[in-house]
This record gives sequence, C-alpha cells and structure tokens, in this order.
Amino acid sequence: MAYELKSARYLAADILRRAVEPGDTVVDATMGNGHDTLFLCELVGEAGRVYAFDIQAQAVENTRKRLTDAGMINRAKLFCLGHEHMAKQVKEPAAAIVFNLGWLPGGDHSVTTHWETTRQAVDSALQLLKPHGLLVICAYPGHAEGDREREALTDMLANLPPQEYNVLWHKFLNAGPGAPECFAAQRQ
Ligand SMILES: C[S@@+](CC[C@H](N)C(=O)[O-])C[C@H]1O[C@@H](n2cnc3c(N)ncnc32)[C@H](O)[C@@H]1O
Repeated sequence: MAYELKSARYLAADILRRAVEPGDTVVDATMGNGHDTLFLCELVGEAGRVYAFDIQAQAVENTRKRLTDAGMINRAKLFCLGHEHMAKQVKEPAAAIVFNLGWLPGGDHSVTTHWETTRQAVDSALQLLKPHGLLVICAYPGHAEGDREREALTDMLANLPPQEYNVLWHKFLNAGPGAPECFAAQRQ
C-alpha cells in the first residue's frame, strides 16, 4: 500500500516495522486481543522474544489462541499481570515497548488503563529500552480517564532530558479533540 497519512495506530505500526529486527526482544504492555502481539511476533522472527502483559484473563486467552493459530506462540511470553510490574519479568534490554492505552475494543469499558499504573509502567519501559530502542504509545483522549492519561503522559514525556531521549508527538490537528495520538520516545 502507498504511504497514507492515516492514523495514530498506523504511524505506530510504521515506526515498529522500521525499528524492530529479527532476534530482538520487545514488549507489548497492553496485550488486549493480541493484534499488536502477533504483529511484534512477526517482526522479531523465530529468534526473537515478545513479552506481553494484560490484567484481563480473557485478553491473555484471546492472544494465546491468536498466536497459536498463527504458529507463533513460541515467540511470546504472555503474562496476566499489570504492565507496572514489567521490570520484574523482562530482564534484558528491549528494542521496542508498545502501549495501546484505553479499553479492549468490544470489551468492558470500565477496565481501562489508568494513569497511576501507566506512569509506573512508562517509567519502567524508559529504563528497559536498549540504546536506540523505542517506546511507542497510542493514547485515546475523548473520555475522562483518557484525557487525564494523555495530559499527564504529554507532560512526563515532554520533560525527559533530550540528551537521553528524543520524543515525538503525532496528532491530527484538524481531527477534533478526541482523535487518537501517537507518542514515540527513542533512547539515545
Ligand atoms: C486498547 S486495549 C489493547 C489492544 C491490543 N493492543 C490489541 O492489539 O488488541 C488496552 C488493554 O489494556 C489492558 N490494561 C488495562 N490496564 C492494564 C495494566 N495495568 N497492565 C496491562 N494491561 C492493562 C486492558 O485490559 C486492555 O485489554
């Protein structure tokens, strides 16, 4: 497909496709139905490893099935655990760490990410990145918790020291206040 200036999710995938290499270790901090986990498994190949986290057992089950059906379950370690605990499970530096905030599409909207735990997880993720590793986050303003999370995340990332991280903020200026946004931070 020709390049399209399309959506925050599209840009996130485009960054990951360019940055992740076979054999890499990467993290999916919000597994959900496993679409991103599968995409990451494809990018890291046979020799790579994807660590994936979600607090919902149903998300882990759906992802396990998706990866098994695709023949890629061996590339992943799935945890029914909050991403704020990722540093206890991921012991090697990561080439990429991905967050897709909010709630599971088609799921319970009350089970959404919350800034208190997202902040801890983003903090851990920034430490876990290897040099030139990328943190990629899609955020969804337009509802109370999403607005709060996006505001606080913007503030946190904007204050990272530029000699340690380069930070990009991608938003469609004419798409209205609720449009998804993509953040990417690369460790120097
Ligand atoms: C927008 S969905 C993710 C969609 C997923 N990336 C996909 O490809 O299907 C957000 C997910 O974050 C999960 N979540 C909420 N709080 C969490 C936490 N503290 N740690 C890990 N996952 C969390 C929710 O259960 C939900 O499945």
